[in-house]
Amino acid sequence: MRKNLVAGNWKMNGSLVENAALLAGVKTALAGMEAVVCVPFPYLAQAQSALAGSSIAWGAQNLSEQARGAYTGEVSASMLLDFGCRYVIVGHSERRSLYGESDEMVARKYMAAQAAGLIPILCVGELLDERDSGITERVVARQLDVVIAAAGVASLAKAVVAYEPVWAIGTGKTASPEQAQAVHAFIRGKIAALDSEVANGLVIQYGGSVKASNAAELLAQPDIDGGLIGGASLILEEFVAICKAAAK
Ligand code: 13P
Repeated sequence: MRKNLVAGNWKMNGSLVENAALLAGVKTALAGMEAVVCVPFPYLAQAQSALAGSSIAWGAQNLSEQARGAYTGEVSASMLLDFGCRYVIVGHSERRSLYGESDEMVARKYMAAQAAGLIPILCVGELLDERDSGITERVVARQLDVVIAAAGVASLAKAVVAYEPVWAIGTGKTASPEQAQAVHAFIRGKIAALDSEVANGLVIQYGGSVKASNAAELLAQPDIDGGLIGGASLILEEFVAICKAAAK
């Protein structure tokens, strides 16, 4: 049986002072529970020292598809490992839309993460106009297909998928539990057609304006196995409440 997993995506937020309080609070409030925080690169060492030995894992929000070399400004998978990361977000919609990451580049990053032993949290999701034109499933299928073609369906046994409808990210608009469940079931069904065991074990997180107040009804859906939390992961009480809802 797969378990729920909640991950916080801090995005480009925080400071040494703010993070210290948040990390200490998460560690204490969620002692013994599994959860993940994905922090900006400069704060990985801080997350490592604050969370080492606790049940909370930490990770990054992006990585290079390259292993090393003349790639100014990039950060490799092995560098993330040096700071104890277990997870890395790959293909977040903000990376795709603001920084031009193609499906193919996302697949290369996914493979670079796995090659180093990191667990990629692979983000997929449609834009508002794609949903309005009724092509949500086609978009999500294409995003998944490129990764599966490159890395193989079996690779998903060592990955997390996050469904994040772009129109619900940071907008306060959440997909209804039914809307989210429909896409999650589509994703699981698509993977089950290739490998049912991988599909049954796959954690599929929902992301997009998840808050303490809506977490329980989203998490009650049979194919929603946790959340990828943006804004609410920066508020200790919110993040803790969401993680507790996922542990029920
Ligand atoms: P919000 O929870 O702020 O909508 O962000 C979701 C997200 O993008 C997490 O990766």
